[in-house]
Formats: sequence, structure tokens, C-alpha cells
Amino acid sequence: MSTSTDTPDEISTDAAAERVFGAVLGAVDLLSIYLGDRLGYYRSLADEGPATAVDLAARTGTDPRYTREWLEQQAVTSLLAVDQAPDPVFRLPDGMREVLTDASSLSYLAPVARLMGAVGPVLPDLLDAYHRGSGVSWDDLGDDARMGQADANRPWYERRLAEALASVPDLHDRLSAPGARFLDVGCGAGWSTISLARAYPGATFTGIDIDAPSVAMAQDNARAAGVDDRTTFTHADAGALEGDGYEAAFAFECVHDMPRPVEVLSAVHRALAPGAPLVVMDEAVADAFAPDGDELERMMYGFSLFVCLPDGLSSPPSVGTGTVMRPSTLAQYGRDAGFSSCETLPIEDFGFWRFYLLQ
Ligand SMILES: C[S@@+](CC[C@H](N)C(=O)[O-])C[C@H]1O[C@@H](n2cnc3c(N)ncnc32)[C@H](O)[C@@H]1O
Repeated sequence: MSTSTDTPDEISTDAAAERVFGAVLGAVDLLSIYLGDRLGYYRSLADEGPATAVDLAARTGTDPRYTREWLEQQAVTSLLAVDQAPDPVFRLPDGMREVLTDASSLSYLAPVARLMGAVGPVLPDLLDAYHRGSGVSWDDLGDDARMGQADANRPWYERRLAEALASVPDLHDRLSAPGARFLDVGCGAGWSTISLARAYPGATFTGIDIDAPSVAMAQDNARAAGVDDRTTFTHADAGALEGDGYEAAFAFECVHDMPRPVEVLSAVHRALAPGAPLVVMDEAVADAFAPDGDELERMMYGFSLFVCLPDGLSSPPSVGTGTVMRPSTLAQYGRDAGFSSCETLPIEDFGFWRFYLLQ
């Protein structure tokens, strides 16, 4: 019998098989969630109610035989509930509805399945990259990655970001000053920028991202949110950003992706007004590598293997940070870029993330 205290050296063959088999079942669930999300099965069950396989196939424009197989698998793995008379009718229980379909919920996890699903088509490229030390870019990972990423982070930005940052002394005053300008580097689909623009109506924001489709998404999202008069999104490498006098800059979950983070942080440093801070939000990983890590550490190494490290290495020369960016690594990048301090902000309970203040 395996226990959580078994080390790899102590584990029996049976327990090892059980451990790996559990991973196989988890992978099956994840890929089935990818199907349910992308084919609109969960959305239809949430919005239009319970369905037989034939009904759900008709609603979603999918094949009835595949739909039946998916529904039965979902019931067998307890993601869906089923009522059995006369034909099985499948329904999405309330808890699952929130996790799989509520885009405003902090528990919304379907986008993570989408992000991991993005890895499937590039597995041959990843094998090649692991041999050569080359990379697989964010662009190669495509829309599943950029949209999965954007949708996973969006509720945190929309529901919690402004409140979290308002608790940082000095930052709230800077954000509240009429006419003040702010930078959001690596802004992706722009949800962080938009959330801050909504919270601080006197401020203007410039989002910068090296990924053109993400910038287009950010522009559309800002327009739909009615903040396009105070937000500008630029397609550029943030390492080449120009301008000065920004009252603060933000880098949300992107420094570890950057091939040359010091180049970007140096450009940000030059663009800031004297004494203005850079807030970095990145993964709340442990201080140092240690075996038998917690779930967050395991998750972040997972993203690093398949997404962030290959993305970072896709544009040489690259320092190859990877998702598991230790606090000491960021502090060193900050020093090399001209920031004299890097402190951890006391913002707790904010998803997978930790906030740093560089000044
Ligand atoms: C993991 S995504 C995070 C996006 C967004 N901040 C969010 O939280 O949803 C990392 C982003 O950093 C961008 N990025 C990476 N290197 C960059 C660089 N040198 N300049 C600008 N953006 C960069 C990528 O294109 C990608 O959109």
C-alpha cells in the first residue's frame, strides 16, 4: 500500500503501478474535459439542461455515436450525473457546472485542460526540441494555449486584482492619480490591463505583447469592455519598449516565459518615473528545488516541461528560465536590470501566484 511518505526508493512495484495508473486516469479525464469544453458539450448541458446522447449530439452538431461514448465516459468517471429511464439522460451537477463552464468563477478550470490540450499537436516538435535544445513557441502552441491562458487568469484579474493591488502602500495612490500612465508588459489578451483600467478610471494603460494574435484579442476585449479610450495595446518585444515617466509597471505571469528577461526588465526600468515600482506576479513556487514537491510545484513543472520552457527557448539567445522561477532568480534579474530591491508582497490566497515589488 502506498502512503504519501513513500519515497521513490521505498515504493513497492504494486504501489508504483497504482501511482502511474492514477496518472493515466487523470490524463484521460483531462483530455475528455478538453473534448467537452471545445465541442460545447458542457456549455450545452449547462445552458440547455440535461440531455440524452441523441439530443446533445443534435444540439452541438456532433456525431451521436461519439457523443454517447463521451457521455458514458463522463458518467463512469463521475464528472457527469445520469438518470436512467427510459434512455440515459446526462446532466452537469452544480459544482461541475461552475468548474467547467463558469468563466467568471475563481474555480473555473476548463481553460487549463485547453492549455494542456495545446500540447498534443506539438509533441513531435517537443521531442525534437528536447534533443536539440531548441524551442516551441507560444505561437506554435496556438489558440488553445493563448485562449486557455487568458480564460484561466481572467476571473482572478476581474475579481481580485484591483483589491489586491490597492492594499500595496503607495501603489494605490499612484494608480489613483489623475492622468497617470501605466505599463502592462506581456499583457496577453489584456484582462489584467482591462481590470486595472476599470478600477482606476483616471489612469491610462499601455499593454505590450510579442504575440500578435494576443494583442488583437486584447484590443477586442478592451473595446467590448468600454475601456479602449484609456488602453493601448502594442505588438512589440517589451525588451525594445520606449517611452518614459510611467507611474508603475506590471508583469503578470510572463517574466518566466521571456527568453531575455533582464533585457525586458531593463527596458521597463528605463521607462519608469524615478522611484516608480514594477509589480511582478509569477508562480508561487518554493524557494529552492526539493524532491517530493507539493501540488503547486508539480503543476508548475508540468507547465514548464510542455509550455513555458520550450516557449522561452524558442527565441535564442535565451536564459531558459522555465515556469519554476525561484524568488532568488527574479531578484537577480531585477538587480541585473537596475532595480535595487525585490520584495514579496503580502498578498495571500491569490491562485497559484505570488506578487513581487521591484524598486
Ligand atoms: C503566460 S502568458 C501571460 C499573459 C497575460 N499576462 C496573462 O496573465 O494572461 C505570457 C505572455 O508573455 C508574452 N511575452 C513573452 N515574452 C515577451 C516579450 N519579450 N515581450 C512582450 N511579451 C512577451 C507572451 O506572448 C504571452 O502573451
